[in-house]
Amino acid sequence: MVSHFKRPTRIAIVGTGNVGATFAYALLLSGLASEIVLIDANRAKAEGEAMDLNHAVPLLPQPARVWAGTYEDCATALITVVTAGAAQRPGETRLDLVHRNVAIFKQIIPEIVRHNPNTILLIATNPVDILTYVALKLSGLRKNHVIGSGTVLDTARFRYLLSQHFDVDPRSVHAYIIGEHGDSEVPVWSLANIAGMRLPQYCSMNQMECQPSILEDIFQQTRDAAYHIIERKGATYYAIASGLVRICESIIRDQGSVLSVSSYLEDYYGISDICLSLPTVIDLDGVERVIRLDLSPEEVEGLRKSAEVLKGIISTLDL
Ligand code: 2OP
Repeated sequence: MVSHFKRPTRIAIVGTGNVGATFAYALLLSGLASEIVLIDANRAKAEGEAMDLNHAVPLLPQPARVWAGTYEDCATALITVVTAGAAQRPGETRLDLVHRNVAIFKQIIPEIVRHNPNTILLIATNPVDILTYVALKLSGLRKNHVIGSGTVLDTARFRYLLSQHFDVDPRSVHAYIIGEHGDSEVPVWSLANIAGMRLPQYCSMNQMECQPSILEDIFQQTRDAAYHIIERKGATYYAIASGLVRICESIIRDQGSVLSVSSYLEDYYGISDICLSLPTVIDLDGVERVIRLDLSPEEVEGLRKSAEVLKGIISTLDL
């Protein structure tokens, strides 16, 4: 029985393709949600995923209710995660998807907010920064309630690759990718650190290699990772699913974690009216604040270029 003190934590997932289904599984394993509702234009796919996930529940430490639902089920969702849309095919960029996925968002987003104007929208569909902006405009929600998975994934890839080079736990590498989740993203080398030491200092104190060519290669592998994975297995989903769980965790548990999500910017180094990723404090109310970074002039320039690329595309959309 549900008492007033024991409200279910419902997460709605719109889109049960590779990313949506893998996220549902990762969320179920995490134990963070007591209710997981799957919504898909292909009802049979959502039903099949719900059945398969439910059969895992007796084997897990923390139970949850999982079902294939409709937009009405978003009504009490704390977070509605949108993964629906066309995905990149080999050779396509994320930006190539924009018109197809904006059309899909025009159908999905009003339906979600019609049933729940208080939900936090977490967008994963690509191009994620543009679709986060589109979701904000179409939903009319408060800007702190519309979040894109942004460069949480790129930041994880960056930390992993740096950790391989420096031979430490990736969780002990503190480094961010900011800007677009895509080809114009920016590595924040000037603030990257291990054990509180910037990388050049860390390298000289610990006799490690840190030449610019090595670091540039690590960044390129980070930026181009999705292309390499899509060439090999057709899609990416484990890491993004884990990133989505991490964002949900910071919301559900009111953690105030710093995550490089995409959100609406107002006068960030003069950049406004666009969604881009920056280290952001995430709590129960969504975006608590975007952290002001002390960036190098090249990093600011890179961030501005990222904003220009995205604004150019947004200007072609009929919103
Ligand atoms: C990724 O970076 C394709 O955006 C997706 O894995």
